[in-house]
Amino acid sequence: MIGVDKDGPGETGMRGMMARWAGRAAAAWLCLGAAQAQTQAQTTSIEAPSVEARVEALLARMTLEEKAGQLNLISNEPLNDPGAIRRGEVGAVINFSNAWLAAEADGLARASRLGIPLLVGLDVVHGYRTVFPLPLALAASFDPGLVRRAAAAMARESASVGLNWTFAPMADVARDLRWGRVVEGLGEDPWLTGRLTAAQVEGFRDGGLASTLKHCAGYGAVLGGRDYDATFVAPTELHDLHLPPFRAGIRAGADAVMTALTALNGVPTTADGGLMTGILRRQMGFSGLVVADWQAVASLVKHGVARDGAEATRKAFAAGVDMDMTSGLYLRHLPDEVRAGRITEAAVDAAVRRVLRLKFGLGLFDRPLVEASNAEGRLLLPETRRIAREAARASLVLLQNREDVLPIDPSRVRRIALVGPFADAAWDQVGPHEGNGQPHDTVTILSGLRERAAASGVEVVFAEGCPRVCTDRTGFAAAVEAARGADLVVAVMGEPRDRSGEGSSTAYLDWPGLQHDLLAAVADAGKPVALVVFGGRPTELGRAPERAHAMLMAWIPGTEGGPAIADVLFGDVGPSGKLPVSWPRTVGQMPLTYDTLPGGRPHIPNSRWTMGYADASPLPLFPFGHGLSYTSFAYGEPEVLTPKVGVGDRYEAVLEVRTPVTNIGPRPGRAVAQLYLGQPVAARSRPKRLLKGAVLLDLASGETAYANFRIPARDLGYHEPDGTLVVEPGEYRVTVGGDSAATQTARFTVETGWRGPPGGDQAQR
Ligand code: BGC
Repeated sequence: MIGVDKDGPGETGMRGMMARWAGRAAAAWLCLGAAQAQTQAQTTSIEAPSVEARVEALLARMTLEEKAGQLNLISNEPLNDPGAIRRGEVGAVINFSNAWLAAEADGLARASRLGIPLLVGLDVVHGYRTVFPLPLALAASFDPGLVRRAAAAMARESASVGLNWTFAPMADVARDLRWGRVVEGLGEDPWLTGRLTAAQVEGFRDGGLASTLKHCAGYGAVLGGRDYDATFVAPTELHDLHLPPFRAGIRAGADAVMTALTALNGVPTTADGGLMTGILRRQMGFSGLVVADWQAVASLVKHGVARDGAEATRKAFAAGVDMDMTSGLYLRHLPDEVRAGRITEAAVDAAVRRVLRLKFGLGLFDRPLVEASNAEGRLLLPETRRIAREAARASLVLLQNREDVLPIDPSRVRRIALVGPFADAAWDQVGPHEGNGQPHDTVTILSGLRERAAASGVEVVFAEGCPRVCTDRTGFAAAVEAARGADLVVAVMGEPRDRSGEGSSTAYLDWPGLQHDLLAAVADAGKPVALVVFGGRPTELGRAPERAHAMLMAWIPGTEGGPAIADVLFGDVGPSGKLPVSWPRTVGQMPLTYDTLPGGRPHIPNSRWTMGYADASPLPLFPFGHGLSYTSFAYGEPEVLTPKVGVGDRYEAVLEVRTPVTNIGPRPGRAVAQLYLGQPVAARSRPKRLLKGAVLLDLASGETAYANFRIPARDLGYHEPDGTLVVEPGEYRVTVGGDSAATQTARFTVETGWRGPPGGDQAQR
């Protein structure tokens, strides 16, 4: 008999849920017009207790089959039984991804016996119709405010067509660039991923979408970067590295958490009660909805931990998974399992309550169906595109800029040769998780650059050189010809959209086809070359850094990518993006991250018996946090304002550090001051540096300002295998600068240490 207390966190969890409700029903439905505005006025007055009362009243009227229906999420498939939603057998849907489909499905649900509206979900990862830069690119902004505004804009547009739930953000840290899904996350670092995960959760809520933290947990550790392969993560690493972004998202009020498709240390996460109930609900206090990933309940049979669908249902449900995504197994088996006494109805009720609370919290019961006939007019609004352009600019990372080739100076550059297979690649710009993005909405780099150049009287001659697979040299001659006749070559090269994303892990990280040959050919024309690197993630650059004077990482920049890149190339806006992942020299370095342990034989170049490779440097080509500006910044010595932090019983203790930053270059610019923590001697070997803070400073030429950091004491610690957070007394070090190779250091002391629950959760209260 399975009688799990699926309410897990009890009082605290309930309080978290209440807090999420506050103001939620007033989410931004403004764009839906007057009828919805009226609904908003009604729903803002819903008090949490009345939501509970409405949930209980509804639950009391539900049959066991209807309860199982609320825990069943279906996809939009041609073979679906159209009557299922009408019969109350479906609580949520995915991929009903336009206003007509969403309204039709939701209309059927509202016409069912109890009229319970649907959760209408989609993977709104980086936009719905207006496509924003990929999450990894947004992470390069290091700017939670911008990330939140971008998420809110995506959510508003999605909500305007009747979606109310996104399967984002991805809170998995990505430690291996071969893993295609690195593009969906926020980089290799748990602190940055956590900050920006929280910002996305808040933004989605601002714009009216429920959020889902995924994939719990450890998915980013797939062996060899192969999607869906096994993960083996030591308990300390699970707590130090993989769980903190989920905790940050939960603290920000995430509505749902999704399991991973993978097995963690041999146990599929969808059947892992220790993880989904023990850690997620009890330790982390998550009281929202737990949803299985796509057919993850059914895949328990393939994983070899269940004999059949009924056993898979029992195992997933016992582990704490409330909702089954697209297996149909909960619908088929839960009622019988309850009748046979193998699952308690109380446990089913607890799961259904979580679904209903979310629906009431979103205000779904209190507003009409979204009007599909005029939905098109709510898409691609100028304000949404404006934020997409701002986000794309902020994501661009200037990797190098020899001889100050950038920004383009129209008094010297009268003609630009634009070459490369991604200069006019509308579909690639939309990226691998496009929502409902359309290539014909996209402003390509060619269009954006032409328009901006024309405004300064500069001519752009476009000669692609080769198409996107680039297996043929026929177009090389025209590209070389264009380069010879120009004052500057802008080459756009890298990876197409389908070399990253889900199910697109790669064994190589180099550019497909003959692109390096094309770059060599145009560089031989003798004109300065500005290389715009295109693609979801860092790739092997080969000899490109020698051939190109400047290199700008453009990622996959979305609908407004063209104008955004033109803005930065011409210096209307300075580049300020920083790498959220270490940039490798070669795929053989994978996994490569900045937060390495010192090791007993630290790397010394050309010294055989030290850590490294015989045939390549173990160091990145560009370090985590790297990104140049059109100006330069000088970092002063960090000053620790709290040189003796007494953590002890003062959970609220904070480390305060400030560093003067001066813009010593000729132009205004944005500095991203980064603070890294180290504990040189500890009970266990700790990473040499760990990012714990980032401060954005917009500085005029010659201006100085302080970067002020406030680091909560819990962020100084590490976890023991059982999840205990330890902040040891002793000496620590902070390093502040413009990237993870910074050198300005100061010391401080923790006088009295602290041991407490994982993530310092208690420190919150
Ligand atoms: C992915 C999830 C996604 C789901 C629905 C799965 O294959 O792992 O991240 O949300 O599909 O599209």
